[in-house]
Amino acid sequence: MIIEENESLKNLNTFGIDVSSKYFAEISSVNDLLQLLSEEKYKSEQKLILGGGSNILFTKNYNGLIIANNIKGITVEDVNENEVIISASGGEVWDDLVDFAVNNNYGGIENLKLIPGKVGASPIQNIGAYGVELKDTFLELTAINIHTLEEVRFKNQECRFNYRYSIFKDEYKDQFIITDVKFKLSKNPKINIEYDSLKKEIEIINPSELTIKVVSEAVKRVRESKLPDPLKIGNAGSFFKNPTIDKSKLLFLQKGYEQIPNYIINENEFKIPAGWLIEKSGLKGIQMGNAGTYKNQALVLINNGNASGKEILDLALYIQNEVKKNFGIELIPEVNII
Ligand code: FAD
Ligand code: EPU
Repeated sequence: MIIEENESLKNLNTFGIDVSSKYFAEISSVNDLLQLLSEEKYKSEQKLILGGGSNILFTKNYNGLIIANNIKGITVEDVNENEVIISASGGEVWDDLVDFAVNNNYGGIENLKLIPGKVGASPIQNIGAYGVELKDTFLELTAINIHTLEEVRFKNQECRFNYRYSIFKDEYKDQFIITDVKFKLSKNPKINIEYDSLKKEIEIINPSELTIKVVSEAVKRVRESKLPDPLKIGNAGSFFKNPTIDKSKLLFLQKGYEQIPNYIINENEFKIPAGWLIEKSGLKGIQMGNAGTYKNQALVLINNGNASGKEILDLALYIQNEVKKNFGIELIPEVNII
């Protein structure tokens, strides 16, 4: 294991922000990790676990140790007539796991096709897309406690998953390094194409048979039409979470905007797309310095060239203020701001 000093992080975060880290180590095994965490030199350093860097905004150089997770491996642990348990190491690329499942006709994560990043980060915000969330197939994870070096397992309920939320974003933030995640997938996949744009894409494809492979291909096509490719335009997907409002607020907003898109959570709570609020605030496709919002998806903040993290953050603050002024709704970042 090589430990670098003043390592550039420009190619290690999908915003492409040019910052550096005081120390940087890439781990390829749990042993590497335990050895690293035992070294006296790094004990008092603050630590950050890095996966694919696709949900992080660096606003300054990192004054501590960055641990990049490169622990690989996907294994089928158990199979019965209906189900299969798959174990994936934290450093596996999430989309490779989806392809592995789809190619073997193991259903449950095909709607999560093409989400960037690594398996180890997937439980952190309970990744979700096109009507499916990680928690729907998540069985348990294994993690190392950063302070005690103890190996701990967390079952589904213990992670307290919710929309873009788990206990690792809150109480256990930066306390555990996720080394392995287990999923329970189905050998008799149930197709879920309830999400409107996915349903429309399937209609266009008009397949002779509706398989999970077709669903993952349709998800890929929808995503490619809406979201910028981080290799070409720096971004971290949705910058903010979709806010929840209550019924009286929705009725009030409907007086001015009859067509406001909304998704019912329960009879008194509704989710509003943050992208719509940003677009209706006149901020879709705008540029502020080197930062901007994407022309096809206002919720995606982009690096138009050499933006600093501070420029992206300033734009985010501006958007929050405008949306608050126009709609009285607070946008909360989804992206981890460092
Ligand atoms: P990183 O950005 O490296 O890290 C994210 C957070 O997790 C950090 O706080 C980090 O410290 C922590 N972390 C990372 N690995 C570990 C570990 N092993 N143990 C403990 N903590 C860890 N997200 C969705 O939910 N749905 C989407 O549809 C979606 N679409 C996206 C589209 C684009 C184009 C982009 C760029 C991003 C998108 N995202 C989406 C956000 C992002 O891909 C996910 O949040 C992803 O899970 C982040 O993985 P990562 O490995 O890049 O994590
Ligand atoms: N919309 C606009 N203008 C825009 C963008 C969106 O009006 O510029 C409105 C439209 O009404 C559209 C609706 O918002 O129908 C929903 O848009 P979209 O389907 O693109 O989804 P989203 O709510 O913007 C969420 C997730 C995405 C996930 C997609 C698909 C959040 C914060 N974002 O986006 O996740 O891929 O749904 O499920 O929940 C991410 O987390 O990084 C991410 C990309």
